[in-house]
Amino acid sequence: MSADYLAALPAATQEEIKQAAKIIAEGGLVAFPTETVYGLGANALDAYAVSGIYIAKGRPSDNPIIVHVSSVPMAEFVGEVNWMARYLMEKFWPGPLSLVIPSNPVVPETTRGGLATVGVRMPDNPIALALIETADTPIAAPSANKSGRPSPTDAETVRRDLGKNVDMVLDGGPTLVGLESTVLDVTGEHPVLLRPGGVSKEEIEKTLDMEVLLASDANSLKRSPGTRYRHYAPKVPLVLLGKEQHAFFCNSINKKWAWMGISEPPCVPEQKIIFRNLEEYARELFRAMRALESSGVEMIVAETPEEKGLGFALKDRLIRASGV
Ligand code: TXA
Ligand code: MG
Repeated sequence: MSADYLAALPAATQEEIKQAAKIIAEGGLVAFPTETVYGLGANALDAYAVSGIYIAKGRPSDNPIIVHVSSVPMAEFVGEVNWMARYLMEKFWPGPLSLVIPSNPVVPETTRGGLATVGVRMPDNPIALALIETADTPIAAPSANKSGRPSPTDAETVRRDLGKNVDMVLDGGPTLVGLESTVLDVTGEHPVLLRPGGVSKEEIEKTLDMEVLLASDANSLKRSPGTRYRHYAPKVPLVLLGKEQHAFFCNSINKKWAWMGISEPPCVPEQKIIFRNLEEYARELFRAMRALESSGVEMIVAETPEEKGLGFALKDRLIRASGV
């Protein structure tokens, strides 16, 4: 039994999705919105189509791609869903949680980056779900940016970043979460958090009544290839600033700098972006980085977020962007 996601959308959107689904079926690439960031999609079961994603992004071929599904049965088609995975799917899908499970042979090695596992997620976005359903195939999709650039949170940024490398861009407006999904490995005895995101470690622990290990504790770096690469790098240096460093920073700064954060800057910058709360900081982070890096400043100074709720994932992305 599947929901009719397509029928719920306006007629013009339905037409676009049908066209996009046809491109997917023919082995092409379609960028589409999810609730987290825009994805660059291809038929997950077609190795040739998926290799197009690696080429368009300039992505290392050993970095596996998340497979997007529109239902739990579709997830069962691509991989082995154990009790832990099923519990989490029931609680958090559709939503920003990708689960790494043992792969079924239908998924080509190209999609899995040569691993025996596959990452699956059901996105919480009506266009994404209608596209998967209409294409009638799971869709492999990394974030729709050039490798190493911030993830795109609107269609215009996708067009600018990937241009002719993508056959079609479905425009669903700005994304709601702004940070990529949580990636959780549920193949072992204990779940392992490979990437913090929209669903927090605490929420997962509460649902499973079980401790979630961090990738660093579990020595599972090898199982999370994406974490080996520098990510989300703006074109100018980005530094994180905590309150205790304010005085030192303001006394020693001799560059044109921009501030982003929830609080006002500790001294006067060239540019500033102030967010209303943690959720807005997360949602607007990548857009703010792109805006500030091309505003003529020599450095971006980001307020260190409080590590609660989305703050954990936000700090993770800021640390990666700072390249430390
Ligand atoms: O929110 C998101 O997850 C977005 C949207 C488009 O769904 N996608 C996304 O994909 O951020 P990408 O490729 O940029 O990041 C996926 C991360 C990478 O770090 C990759 O290494 C990891 O997930 N990953 C995917 N499959 C895996 C697997 N089988 N084992 C371990 N890590 C995996
Ligand atoms: Mg990415």
